[in-house]
Amino acid sequence: MKNFKYLQIRELFLKHLEKNGHTIIPSASLVPENNPSVLFVNCGMFPLIPYLLGEPHPGGVRLANSQRSLRTIDIDEVGDATHLTTFEMLGNWSINDYFKEEALRITLTFFIDELGFDINKISSSVFAGNEDAPKDEESIEIWKKLFKERGIEAKVGEKIRELGKEDNWWEPDGGGPCGPDSETFYEVDGKLVEIGNDVFMQYLKKDGQYLPLGKHNVDFGGGLDRLAMVCQGVSSVYETDIYLPILTKVREMSKSENIQSQRIIVDHIKAATWVIADGVVPGRSQREYILRRLIRRAIRHARKLGIEGLFTRIIGEIAIEQFKAVHEELEPKKNDILNILEEEEKKFNQTLEKGIREVEKLASELKAALKPGEEFTNENQETFKLYETYGFPLEMTLEELGSHNIPYSYETTAVRHEKAYEDHQEKSRTASKGLFKGGMADTSEMSTKYHTATHLLLSALHKVLGDHIYQKGSNITTERLRLDFPNETKLTDEELKQVENLVNEQIEKGLEVTFTEMPKEQALELVKYAAFGEKYGDIVKVYTIGTPDNPFSQEICGGPHVENTKVLGKFKIVKQENVSAGVKRIKAILE
Ligand code: ALA
Repeated sequence: MKNFKYLQIRELFLKHLEKNGHTIIPSASLVPENNPSVLFVNCGMFPLIPYLLGEPHPGGVRLANSQRSLRTIDIDEVGDATHLTTFEMLGNWSINDYFKEEALRITLTFFIDELGFDINKISSSVFAGNEDAPKDEESIEIWKKLFKERGIEAKVGEKIRELGKEDNWWEPDGGGPCGPDSETFYEVDGKLVEIGNDVFMQYLKKDGQYLPLGKHNVDFGGGLDRLAMVCQGVSSVYETDIYLPILTKVREMSKSENIQSQRIIVDHIKAATWVIADGVVPGRSQREYILRRLIRRAIRHARKLGIEGLFTRIIGEIAIEQFKAVHEELEPKKNDILNILEEEEKKFNQTLEKGIREVEKLASELKAALKPGEEFTNENQETFKLYETYGFPLEMTLEELGSHNIPYSYETTAVRHEKAYEDHQEKSRTASKGLFKGGMADTSEMSTKYHTATHLLLSALHKVLGDHIYQKGSNITTERLRLDFPNETKLTDEELKQVENLVNEQIEKGLEVTFTEMPKEQALELVKYAAFGEKYGDIVKVYTIGTPDNPFSQEICGGPHVENTKVLGKFKIVKQENVSAGVKRIKAILE
């Protein structure tokens, strides 16, 4: 395998697709143009949805590009070897033109003939089938043939694995053209790394139903950053040629070796330059708030590393230099981008130190005040003071408290944070008249929805898996929910589907969500599962979803919740993970 550079891989891919009759189209902006269902474009197919649904594309029926993408779902995992907030996704599409055989051949020849990957280390997965769609027998046969052409007898269960919906079905957030997919893997140091994904779109997901699409589209996507990592034989994306100069500079400026903080700075500043280049400025509303969080979090981590003085311009400049060929808006807007970064940095610098001291004070007060098992719930709206006075995004305050081992409830803190914000707005109404509502309103609305969805999920798990289920941990952001629960084995595809369906059924039923207050003993009798027995006060709230004589869920909880499940939209499990022996984690979104 040749040690190709990032830009070479990109070039090779586009050339390969051109040779195969594709029109190369530019990357769309990160800010979706005509589709408000997501805040940022999160994969290559997203801007192409209208064409995959039937609108003619001026480039024809074979298209390819490298699309800049941003994913917020895993922001809290940035800092490890592979997660990035923004990345490039190589993509090719057949719009009702070629289908499975040609698609998989194009994919395989790219990896083997262009990049020089070893066929012996390549394997694939195909959709095993479920009640929505049959097993993808066709792809199995195609893979066997493709391997055979290169002298390999590939067997199902070995080189070709059959996996369920969680792994081998793809649909965009918010619904749309979708179908089974076939992933390609490469073995690196004994581990399988996913290097590409061909989605075979013959279905349309609409209002939770899978309808025939009336077309056979192909949507291929491959993460360029990860591919560069494999080609270059390095163990993290930050060590690839495109990121390394940025990381090196951060390292040079750091007084501490904390690699996680260093990576967070590289990722967040680079992501910020991309987002600003696409026209977003830091602020209070949703998209702007995500940008503000990225920049401020990078600044916080810079302080942790002992980086002194202004640094975002220095790092931002290197990031722009590295990625200017990838994101054509970067170079012409360079000065604006760097000024916006620095302005935000200066603003935050004025208050950061004091803010940190305030959070430390709060942490030590909480350490003394919280009883075992009790969580910080922002009773005195502390997080709002930190935001107003010191510019600390809510998530940053919570991350700081977390680093002092203070457990917190995101949902309750977010709602109290929002309440304080609203009261504040009320007081300064005349001053803010005519201004749009701040992002925090949406923050708390989304987290309230996710809070109710968590109750539905927990009850669904309890019904599907049994009485051993209870909430071991929960973490909610505006982008997703995360729930940890005890279970020996990972859930099967079937079980995941059952759980997901059960939750969606309750949403569709439009169940009322109500609460009553009662003595703790009575509540513990009533509910089927209680998480932290000792933390409850003498009088507790019990939230009921559904009619009280036949509820779907009943939990002791401080709230808040939505009033009716119908506002939740569609519930989708997006990830299952092993947290530790006997503890599993589910991440899910509402769309
Ligand atoms: N759209 C597909 C994905 O993101 C290719 O995996």
